[in-house]
Amino acid sequence: MLSFDEDTINRPAAAPAATPTASTATPAVKRISADDKRVINGTTDVNQLVPFKHKWAWEKYLAQCANHWMPQEVNMQRDIEQWKTGQLTEDEMRLVKRNLGFFVTADSLAANNIVLGTYRQITSPECRQFLLRQAFDEAIHTHAYQYIVESLGLDEGEVFNAYNEVASIKNKDDFLMPFIDVLTNPAFKTGTLETDQQLLRSIIVFACIMEGLFFYVGFVQILALGRQNKMTGAAEQYQYILRDESMHCNFGIDLINTIKMENPELWTESFKAELVGLFQHAVELEYAYAEDTMPRGVLGLNAAQFKEYLRFIANRRMQQIGLNELFPGVTNPFPWMSEMIDLKKEKNFFETRVTEYQTGGALSWD
Ligand SMILES: [Fe+2]
Ligand SMILES: [Fe+2]
Repeated sequence: MLSFDEDTINRPAAAPAATPTASTATPAVKRISADDKRVINGTTDVNQLVPFKHKWAWEKYLAQCANHWMPQEVNMQRDIEQWKTGQLTEDEMRLVKRNLGFFVTADSLAANNIVLGTYRQITSPECRQFLLRQAFDEAIHTHAYQYIVESLGLDEGEVFNAYNEVASIKNKDDFLMPFIDVLTNPAFKTGTLETDQQLLRSIIVFACIMEGLFFYVGFVQILALGRQNKMTGAAEQYQYILRDESMHCNFGIDLINTIKMENPELWTESFKAELVGLFQHAVELEYAYAEDTMPRGVLGLNAAQFKEYLRFIANRRMQQIGLNELFPGVTNPFPWMSEMIDLKKEKNFFETRVTEYQTGGALSWD
């Protein structure tokens, strides 16, 4: 039988009634004050969403619900024709397969990290509400990648095992796994300087390095194909995923900065130095992945541009959480990517037939 951990549910016990025999007596429980709510190690009832304290999390939850989409609403017919009639070069096909090889398992890792790890350590119900939505988004992303693999008739064994079999993908996941494992260990619990730093470190790796950096070579590649009128169905799905992931990353950054604000003792010099080392290593791993997916340069893209781009993104993520830039002076070699993130501007970019991007419900199609 399931037993709920009181610490996870965090429902304060009712004070004993003055007269235990009076069945109509209402036990006295102190009402929540928003000021008492904390992102981690809070003691307020996690079942009471309001009064809000972390309103930014609730607002991002609402925004993300308005971004709802489903993969099967995107038409893949043209992609299938292009794929099966030799309209893509060998290099482009390698790029697509390596690209999916990372993503088909990455979003399952993300979902498991949220559901089995992060969620139970977060004591702000408005932050939990966002994480519930985010977990569903990750399911939609895994669904989208599976839908592309199935549409193109790719070798499922090859694609889904790529994270075991392709070194440039495996190295990225091997980097991430220890930070996921620490949180998904059932015995893990915050409440000391060491464990609070472990949680914060894992959240930073997840939001700023996994969702904020390790996804970006892949996003640029498929969106670059779409800009050249190739694989536009897949590109449209990646565009929605990019929008979701930038929201996840922004939520993560707000979460990190709020944890820092509520627990300033965690942000020590040695902790910061360790984070800088992690960013440095992550940029190297993602660059190696770029080289492996594009050994010769493809679509007007080459690995050297990605070196600049990854440094640019790493700088931005570091600044967003209050660290100094690691690579001063770099610029964005793909300025079109920032416009991609804002879908309203790029509404008809792929000349697909979407009539409404944000309906608060499903997308609608002509
Ligand atoms: Fe995702
Ligand atoms: Fe995500």
